[in-house]
Amino acid sequence: MAMSQAAFKVEQAIGNGDNATTAQDVTNPGLTPGAGKKEKMQALAWMGKNSVEMIEASRPAIIEPRDVILKITGSTVCGSDLHLLHGTVVELQKGDILGHEFCGIVDEVGAEVAKFQKGQRVVASFQIACGDCYYCKQKLSSQCEKTNANTIENAMYGGRTAGMFGYSHFTGGFAGGQSEYTRVPYGDVNLLPIPDDVPDEKALYLSDVLCTSWHAVVDTGVKKGDVVAIWGAGPIGQMAADFSLLNGASRVIMIDSNWRLDFVKERYPHIEAIDFSKLPKGESVTSELKKRCDMRGPDVSIECAAGEYAKGWAHYFEMMLGLETDTSELVNEMITSTRNFGRCGITGVYVGFTNHFNIGSLMERGIRLIGNGQAPVHLYWESLLKMIQEGKIDPLKMVTHRVRMEDLDKVYYKFEAKEDGMQKVFVETRFSTPPCEGSPALTMY
Ligand SMILES: NC(=O)c1ccc[n+]([C@@H]2O[C@H](COP(=O)([O-])OP(=O)(O)OC[C@H]3O[C@@H](n4cnc5c(N)ncnc54)[C@H](O)[C@@H]3O)[C@@H](O)[C@H]2O)c1
Ligand SMILES: [Zn+2]
Ligand SMILES: [Zn+2]
Repeated sequence: MAMSQAAFKVEQAIGNGDNATTAQDVTNPGLTPGAGKKEKMQALAWMGKNSVEMIEASRPAIIEPRDVILKITGSTVCGSDLHLLHGTVVELQKGDILGHEFCGIVDEVGAEVAKFQKGQRVVASFQIACGDCYYCKQKLSSQCEKTNANTIENAMYGGRTAGMFGYSHFTGGFAGGQSEYTRVPYGDVNLLPIPDDVPDEKALYLSDVLCTSWHAVVDTGVKKGDVVAIWGAGPIGQMAADFSLLNGASRVIMIDSNWRLDFVKERYPHIEAIDFSKLPKGESVTSELKKRCDMRGPDVSIECAAGEYAKGWAHYFEMMLGLETDTSELVNEMITSTRNFGRCGITGVYVGFTNHFNIGSLMERGIRLIGNGQAPVHLYWESLLKMIQEGKIDPLKMVTHRVRMEDLDKVYYKFEAKEDGMQKVFVETRFSTPPCEGSPALTMY
C-alpha cells in the first residue's frame, strides 16, 4: 500500500480531533452515506500513487445547512496537485476527488445560506474557512481552526491548517472541484460573486494562483527598488514575478531549467532568467546571482518550486529512503544567494523534515526566512478581482491550454511532464460558456 494511503489508515485508527464544525472525510460523495445523490457526474479521482482517472461519481447533496452545491464551469490543475499525484502529500484514499481551484454557477443552497441564490456565478476559495474563528476574523482563512480536524497534521506541525478542497484527508478530506458538481461548505464565506464584466477564464484563478503569488510577494516584503529572485517559473512563479514588478521591484530574476523560462522571456522581456541546468562548470545559482547583483545577491528571494524536487543524488536518495521528506537544496540556495539581512519566502509546498539545512548562513548573515504558509485567499481576493476589472492584472497571460473535463486524467500527465508547452490550463465542462476573448482555443486529447 502506498505511503499516502497507509497514513490515512493511521489517522482513522487514531481518530480526528473535535475542533471541526463541518463534516470531515467527504472526499467522494458516493462513498459517504448521505453525501451523494443518485444522479451521476464526471470527476477526476486519485487512484493510487502516480495514478488519476476520470470516474463516474455521485452528484453531491446538501449535507449541512450552510452548504452550496456548485455546477462547475471552470477548473484547472495546480502544481500542488502534482504533490498529491506523487503521493508526497499524504493521507489519500482511492477514489478521492481532487481539484482546489474552481468556479461555477450556484445550483442549490442550504437553508442557512444568506448571500447566494441559484444561478449566480461564483468562484471558490481553495481553502474552506468557517468565517468566524480567531484566524477567520483576521481573514487569515488558510489557518481556519474549524474546518480541519486532522490529528496527524496537528501533531506533526503543532497546529492545523484550514480544510482544503481536493487536498487529501490531511487537510480535512473534502471532495474537490475537478468535477461537474462540488459541495462548498460555508458557502457564504467561501464563494465570491463574479461580476458580469469578468469572464470565468479570468475569475477562476482567484481560487488560488493569484492570491498565492500576491501573498508570496507581500508576505516576503517586496519593496520599491528591490531586486527579487524567484525559484520556479511555473504559474505561481510567473505571477509572483509580475506582482513583484507591480509592487515596485527594480529587477526580477527567475531560476528554472526548462522551456518555461523562454515562455517568461517572451511575455515579460524585462525579466531576467537563469537556467540552472546550463550554468558553466564551477558556477552555481548562488555564484551567478552574486555576479548579477553587485556580488551581494538579491534583496528578496521567493521559493515557488517545492521541496520534493531534489537537484542532487544525496537528497534524492535521502528522500527515497525516508530519511527526509523534502530537500533543503533550494532553500539553502536562496539563503546563500540573498544579500545579508535580506528576506526569503517559501511558497512552494514543503511537507515535513529536511536534512543539511544551512542554519549557519541564516543566522550569521541575518537572513529572514519566512514560511509564507498556505495563502489566505480571503485576505486578497476582493482587491485582486478589482485589479482584474481595472486591467491591472491579466491572469490569461499564464494560461496555455483550454481542455475538456473528460480529458483531465491525460492532462495531469502532460502537465506533470511539461509536455506540449502546457502550464496553466482552463478546464471546461458541459456547463461552460464559449471561450472568452484571449482564451486559448480548445485542445482535445
Ligand atoms: N502556499 C500556497 O498557498 C500554494 C498555493 C499554490 C501552489 N503552491 C505551490 O507553489 C509551487 C509552484 O506552483 P506551480 O503551480 O507554479 O507549480 P509547477 O509545478 O507548475 O512549477 C514549479 C516549477 O518549479 C521548477 N523547479 C523545480 N525544481 C527547481 C529548482 N531546483 N530550482 C528552480 N526551479 C525549480 C519546475 O521546473 C517548475 O517549472 C508548488 O509547490 C505548489 O504546490 C503553494
Ligand atoms: Zn493550488
Ligand atoms: Zn475559521
